[in-house]
Parts: sequence; structure tokens; C-alpha cells
Amino acid sequence: TFPKQVKIVEVGARDGLQNEKNIVPTPTKIKLIDMLSEAGLPVIEATSFVSPKWVPQMADNAEVLKGIQKFPGINYPVLTPNIKGFQAAVAAGAKEVSVFGAASEQFTKKNTNCSIDESLQRSDEILRAARAAGIPVRGYVSCVLGCPYEGKISPAKVAEITKKMYSMGCYEISLGDTIGVGTPGIMKDMLSAVMYEVPVAALAVHCHDTYGQALANTLMALQMGVSVVDASVAGLGGCPYAQGASGNLATEDLVYMLSGLGIHTGVNLQKLLEAGAFICQALNRKTCSKVAQATCKL
Ligand code: HMG
Ligand code: MG
Repeated sequence: TFPKQVKIVEVGARDGLQNEKNIVPTPTKIKLIDMLSEAGLPVIEATSFVSPKWVPQMADNAEVLKGIQKFPGINYPVLTPNIKGFQAAVAAGAKEVSVFGAASEQFTKKNTNCSIDESLQRSDEILRAARAAGIPVRGYVSCVLGCPYEGKISPAKVAEITKKMYSMGCYEISLGDTIGVGTPGIMKDMLSAVMYEVPVAALAVHCHDTYGQALANTLMALQMGVSVVDASVAGLGGCPYAQGASGNLATEDLVYMLSGLGIHTGVNLQKLLEAGAFICQALNRKTCSKVAQATCKL
């Protein structure tokens, strides 16, 4: 059985744009986020407060966060890798942040220049400061279905890290198939292990579509009771520290599937398609959303 309602977390403006080589002008990012707000997405990840030396594309984080329209009822979380990023995010008006770790030692090193243990300590520091400031914290675990450096990752390792982040106080943990290598059977095994440790209501999935499995993997997660799904408009995305990984599951395709299943999302597909067309034109690239490419209509 499927959930009656699914919360979509739109990550296009962050995960989607962080990987773009050419710096996207700040007003373009702001317009994209405003259009996504118009489309009714309940959660729109706006930017990340990471080191501009590591991810130059996100260097305008404060301007973006200050410049977007804040629609009532919509959350605009931002990524924060350490306390410095957290403080900068709060100073720029962030009302929610996300911490990120991984189930792979080597990926953690490449992505955040530290060990898994250090990364958890940094997250813990943020969580303590956030609790004092009344700011909810989401958590990410990367490489849950495979790692670009270590290959296979055991479900037990994913469960262990997810449990730690949940115990530290993350209200929701997004399980990332960072390089999009998973298939539904592996998703099922991984989720079974994680659900044994953390309530399914606190879990989200975040599937990249490198091998064309993102929608199938997401459907498996929905069947297992997950009701929060990350997706990226036009299928933008990738991680600068996971070479060859392509974009996330396209939000348009997710919305189309969920609407066909009679699952409520509150998202206006037409307006979402307009946001996708806008950013693809701005980036001068073709959309990765199948729904946006489709010309035959029912
Ligand atoms: P480091 O070089 O070890 O940091 O990087 P450091 O503490 O030694 O500081 C070095 C310099 O960076 C200093 O500046 C700091 O002030 C500055 P300097 O003195 O040299 O002028 N610095 C910062 N500046 C701005 N904001 C900050 C910040 N922190 C330090 N927050 C660090 C460590 C974590 C900062 C770095 O590795 C980093 O920024 N990594 C982020 C990488 C990233 O953004 N990856 C993509 C997001 S994760 C993802 O995409 C996966 C996900 O989508 C899920 C999935 O798909 O699986 C979420
Ligand atoms: Mg990602």
C-alpha cells in the first residue's frame, strides 16, 4: 500500500545547480526558486552554506536566501557542513538547515575533508546550536546504495549512520543514492535494515538517476511506507565529489507518477513544467524530465 500523501523536497536549486560549471547568475537562481514556490512545492532547498573554495557555485548563498520570496507554508532549508556554515545560514535568515554525512569513509573524506566520526561530530555541534535556536535540522546520508570510491555499501552501515543522525536529533533523514547505481532490490534491502532502527515516518529517499533507476527505486520506497521524496526540477543535479553521477529524479516525472497513483502532493504540474523550462533555457540545456519531453497528451 502507498502513502495517501507524499511530501516532495525540491532540491534542484541546490543539488541541481551546485554541479554547474558556469556560475549561474543569482537573479536566475532566485527566479527559479520563486517559480518553484508558485508551483506549490512544500519544501524547496534553496542553497548551501559550504566553502566557496569547494563549491564556487553556491558562493552567493546569502544573497539567494535573502532574495527569494518566502511563501507561507513553504520551507526553504539550506545545507550546512559545519558550525561556520550554520552561523552564516542563520545570519542570512535560514529557518531550517540540513546536515550531511555518508555511509562511506572515502566519500566523506572527498566531500567534506574528514572522517565519518568527525562528520558526525560536526553535525552534532550544529544540532546542539540549532536546538538552542529552535531550528529544525534535516539529515542526509549519502552513498546508501553504493559509493564511487568504495563500491558496495552494506545496509548495516547505512542503518548505523542513519540511527546516529536520528538519535542526535535530525527530524528527518534523507537516504541518498548519490551516484544513482541502485536497483529496487537493493533499495528494499537497505530500507529494511534502516527501518529496523529508525521509524519510516522520519525517512526520505533521494535518488539520482544515473542508471535510469531513480523512479523505480523511489516507487519501491513508497511501497515500503516512505512518504518523503527528494527530486529535482528538470532532473538537474549531481555532486561535484561524485564524478559521473547525473541528476536527481526529475520532479515533473515524480509528480506525474504520484498523480497517476492518486497520491496527493499539492504540486501544480503545469507551473512546475514552466519552472523546468525556465531553468533549462537559462542553462542552455535540454531537460532530463521525460514528462517535460513528452508531447503526446491524454
Ligand atoms: P576544509 O578545507 O577542510 O575546511 O573544508 P576548513 O575548516 O579547514 O576551512 C578552510 C577554509 O574554508 C577556511 O577559509 C574556512 O573559513 C572556510 P580560509 O581561512 O582558507 O580563507 N570555510 C567555510 N567558508 C564558508 N562556509 C563554510 C566554511 N567552512 C570552512 N561553511 C568543508 C571542509 C566541509 C568546509 C568543505 O569540505 C566543504 O565545503 N564541503 C562541501 C562539499 C559539498 O558541498 N558537497 C555537495 C553537497 S553534498 C551532496 O550533494 C549529497 C546530497 O545531495 C545527497 C546525495 O545525493 O547523496 C546532499
Ligand atoms: Mg544529491
